[in-house]
Amino acid sequence: ATMSSEAELIHMFKGIPFTTRSSPELLKSLDTFDAREDDVLLVSYPKSGTHWLAGVITKLYNTQVTLTSPIEFGDISKLEELNKLSSKRIIPTHLDYNMLPPNFKNKKCKMIYISRNPKDTAVSMYHYYRENPNLPTVDTWTAFFDLFLKGDVVCGSWFDHFLSWEEHENDKNILFLFYEDMKKDLPKIVNEISLFLGLNVSDNDIEDICKKSSFSEMKSDTEKENSDPSHTVCALTSNRKLIFRKGTVGDWKNHFTPKQNRRFEEIFNEKMKLSKM
Ligand code: A3P
Repeated sequence: ATMSSEAELIHMFKGIPFTTRSSPELLKSLDTFDAREDDVLLVSYPKSGTHWLAGVITKLYNTQVTLTSPIEFGDISKLEELNKLSSKRIIPTHLDYNMLPPNFKNKKCKMIYISRNPKDTAVSMYHYYRENPNLPTVDTWTAFFDLFLKGDVVCGSWFDHFLSWEEHENDKNILFLFYEDMKKDLPKIVNEISLFLGLNVSDNDIEDICKKSSFSEMKSDTEKENSDPSHTVCALTSNRKLIFRKGTVGDWKNHFTPKQNRRFEEIFNEKMKLSKM
């Protein structure tokens, strides 16, 4: 990435760092957003498998659905744009639970929260920061590691994000998924998603969807695409090609020093005291 200062690219809203691609006016107006009962929210902390899940979900529907850009991405015209959409909306977001437009909660819209081992998320985010001109420059993994643990990165602290959503894990309208489970047994998870969304999908369809959702298929689809590169479900990128990096579990082991690992675990155990994770 070219050298860009934090001040040019990041602004704070309700204590959370956002990129300037989320305008303060839009963030302020989220509270009044009009949800529809059949909206489906796709929720994640960045670099947790959002695009993978989005790929699966859009393939599950036979009917016309629209995968929108993240609700917090853009300027004030965003909400009107969403209002005008006539088809069913699949809406991604990186917002924490407290910042979610209340209307989604009142209408009990279906929400799917995907999460990933935060060590792998940190490593994935580090590479993303390095490649993405819309994010501040980070020089070293060591420097990024500290920022991540402090929550001094876009979307704030991984721990706060996860905990805000985990508090609602028993809500009937929220499905919790893990990246690692998708890696282990994708057909099982796709079946779970399909049941949750009330879709009627055959085993053959599921097999086909899984094939088309593999890392290599999705990566090569992106490379073939001539479509608008800014069409992504992540609020941080303008380039889909940055998304498909490695797609594995445990890459943190190639980055963390033993000392960093001990520090991470200490903070994890402290922050996650009340969590079931
Ligand atoms: P890595 O950087 O570890 O490779 P998000 O979509 O939330 O931004 O998450 C991006 C991460 O998901 C990247 O992780 C990316 O490689 C991985 N990913 C994307 N598509 C995938 C797929 N089909 N299978 C497995 N991992 C995938």
